[in-house]
Parts: sequence; structure tokens; C-alpha cells
Amino acid sequence: MKPQQYKHSLICFFFFFAPHVIAVLVCSSGIQVAHASSHHHHHHHPRGGISKLFVFGDSYADTGNNRKPASSWGVPYGITFPGKPAGRFSDGRVLTDYLASFIGIKSPIPYRWRKYAGHRIRDGLNFAYGGTGVFDTRISPDPNMTTQIDFFQKLIHSNVYSKQDLSSSVALVSLAGNDYSNYIASNGSIQGLPGFIVSVVNQLALNMKRIHDLGVKKVAVIGLQPLGCLPRSTASSSYQRCNGTENMAVGFHNSLLKEAVAKLNTESKSSAFVILDLYKAFTTVFNTSQNHPGSVRFENPLKPCCVGTSPEFSCGSVDFNGVKRYTVCENPELAFFWDGVHPTQQGWFSVYSVLQASLDQIYT
Ligand SMILES: *[C@@H]1O[C@H](CO)[C@@H](O)[C@H](O)[C@H]1NC(C)=O
Ligand SMILES: *[C@@H]1O[C@H](CO)[C@@H](O)[C@H](O)[C@H]1NC(C)=O
Ligand SMILES: *[C@@H]1O[C@H](CO)[C@@H](O)[C@H](O)[C@H]1NC(C)=O
Ligand SMILES: *[C@@H]1O[C@H](CO)[C@@H](O)[C@H](O)[C@H]1NC(C)=O
Repeated sequence: MKPQQYKHSLICFFFFFAPHVIAVLVCSSGIQVAHASSHHHHHHHPRGGISKLFVFGDSYADTGNNRKPASSWGVPYGITFPGKPAGRFSDGRVLTDYLASFIGIKSPIPYRWRKYAGHRIRDGLNFAYGGTGVFDTRISPDPNMTTQIDFFQKLIHSNVYSKQDLSSSVALVSLAGNDYSNYIASNGSIQGLPGFIVSVVNQLALNMKRIHDLGVKKVAVIGLQPLGCLPRSTASSSYQRCNGTENMAVGFHNSLLKEAVAKLNTESKSSAFVILDLYKAFTTVFNTSQNHPGSVRFENPLKPCCVGTSPEFSCGSVDFNGVKRYTVCENPELAFFWDGVHPTQQGWFSVYSVLQASLDQIYT
């Protein structure tokens, strides 16, 4: 790969929005250490008075709400965990699973299985649906963020969760990526994009306030990942260069989100809202892989494990005779990205390792 070119697009980005460039070295040394411990200890002891996780989001957070024939229910998804396709958009665990393990609870059951969840509903619920956004998206008929919160509100009104349950809970919010891919796919103009970003963040902030007003103690929202570095955007450069235009748009989203969260915190008087900065976490992992070739885990972090045999086919695609139109790398542990959009389990694990330092905000 040609790291210089890849770095170049990031430099452009940071030139405009240089908010946080510091924690790089600190984080990168933390990765390996955290790695050793977390896979082997799955304590399920909630700590710090937080015992439930409610999740509102898209495919970065969905653990099975999405219905067949979504790609997440087809081979080769889930090959690492649980060993077969099970509704996660990855070869294995996703962000939700790692956040749950951080809190010390089991990963919350997908909302659509709530009736069969029994006591597991004590861990919270996952309302995330792959493909969805703050607003409706073309690619998904599934519930948008507003409707996901409506589901949650109905359960509260029917006393499935008490006030006390809610006051010991955290919400994870992973949304907005699909709003932007939808905007671009539906021919939205680049000139109109800033205005659209403003409306997405405004709606997102209103929704987050609504979750908090329902009684949830802490609301953790993702700072959007660098969309321009997703394989679907870097494929045209053979996975060498991030799309600077897309990353700049994400930078604008993230800076507005930061302001919105600061405002919400001033109004709530309790720092109820926190940002989990996926942008910084992803780019830190990319940089770490490049700057420490000795300890490489991701040879080219921009290159996905599962790739269509030609650009019109995606991971999991088969022809009418069931013949595969994709290839899977030999060792998904060595790839950061699984498919054109989603990290592998190992990718999510390294993102989580970088985020860990900031996850303590949930307890403050
Ligand atoms: C979310 O979906 C509902 C139900 O389809 C729709 O009425 C509502 O307008 C949507 N909300 C937003 C913010 O797009
Ligand atoms: C795309 O945008 C152009 C210019 O705004 C417009 O003329 C065209 O009809 C649009 N196409 C679609 C499919 O919306
Ligand atoms: C970057 O993304 C924008 C928006 O999706 C697109 O119009 C542009 O062609 C992309 N640039 C490159 C170099 O691929
Ligand atoms: C990644 O590396 C680029 C180029 O060296 C640098 O500009 C950027 O700040 C780094 N980003 C992070 C989050 O480490």
C-alpha cells in the first residue's frame, strides 16, 4: 500500500477540522494490552450502578433485528461469532457487544425477540436496525430512530421498565451514516449537503433529549466514523485513499454534534450526554497499523476481508445457481473491515480498545 497517499487525505481533513489529534500514542500502546484481557474474561457483573443498555441505531449496532434476506442473515456473515449467520453485519461481534461487555452485562436482546427474552430483558434491549437513519432511508423500510424510540416508550408505558431500571441504564445511539449515504445515493447536491447535515444533527439531538427525558441516565452517541475511508469509498483507489470530501462532511457533522451535546449537557445540568468518537478511534487504528509495521495486525486497514468478484456484487452475493460472487480472506482477524461498510470483529475490538479510555464518561 501507499501510506503517504492515504495520509494525505487525512491531512486535508484535519486542516479544516483539527479538533483532537492528541491521544494517538497513548491509545496505540493500549490496544495490545486490552486485547489480551478482554477476550478471556467475560465477567457479567454490572458495575458503577449501570445495569442496562438500550441501543438505537443502524448496522453498526444491530444484533439481529434486521430480517432475512438482509446480508447479515446470509453466509459468510457471523463465521467468527457465533459461527453462522445470526443477524450481525460482521464476521462476529459488533460495537453493541463490546459496549455491553464493558458495562459488565450480556449483549441486550434484539427488540424483535423481546417476547422470548425472559429475564434477559433485564440487560436492556437493542432497537437498532441495519440500514436505518435518523430520517427514513431508501435502502431500509425498517424503523427510523424516531420509531425505535417509540417502541421503547411503549414498553415504558406498559411498565416493562421501571423508573429505577431506567435510572441505572445507558443508551447507545449509532445513527446518521445511512442518512448521508442515502442523501448521496438519492442525488442530493454537494451544495445542499451542509444544510442537510444541520437538519440531521438537529433531529438527532432532539431524539437524544427524548431518550434522556424518558429516564435513561446516560446517552452515548457515536461521533460518526470516517465515511470516506469505508471500503465502498476507497475501492476506486484499490483501498489506498480515503475520500476527503466525504470525510470533510463527516467532520462537519461531528463538530455540530459536539456543539449540540455540549448544549444538551448545559441544559440537563448532569453531563448526561457523551460522545463516543468513532472518527478518532477508526483513524487511530488506521494510523497505528501504519506506524507500527512490526506489530501489524491490519496489513492494509482499508482493505476489506469479504469482497465481491466485481464492483456490482457485495459480500454474500450469489448467482441464481448459488455460486458465490465474492471472496473471503483467509484470516478475518487480520482485516479491519469485513465488507464494504462494516468492521470485522477484530476491527470492532480495536476500535473498542481505543474507545475504552473515553467509556469511563458513562460513569461520571
Ligand atoms: C420516522 O418514521 C415514521 C413512521 O414511518 C414517520 O412517520 C416519521 O416521519 C419518520 N421520522 C423522521 C424524523 O423521518
Ligand atoms: C438529479 O439531480 C438533477 C439536478 O438537480 C435533476 O435534474 C435530476 O432529475 C435528478 N435525478 C434524480 C434521479 O433524482
Ligand atoms: C468522493 O465522494 C463524493 C461524494 O460521494 C463523490 O462525488 C466523489 O466523486 C468522490 N471522490 C472520489 C475521488 O472518489
Ligand atoms: C493519523 O495520521 C495523520 C497523518 O500522519 C495525522 O494527520 C492524523 O492526525 C492522525 N489521526 C489520528 C486520529 O491519529
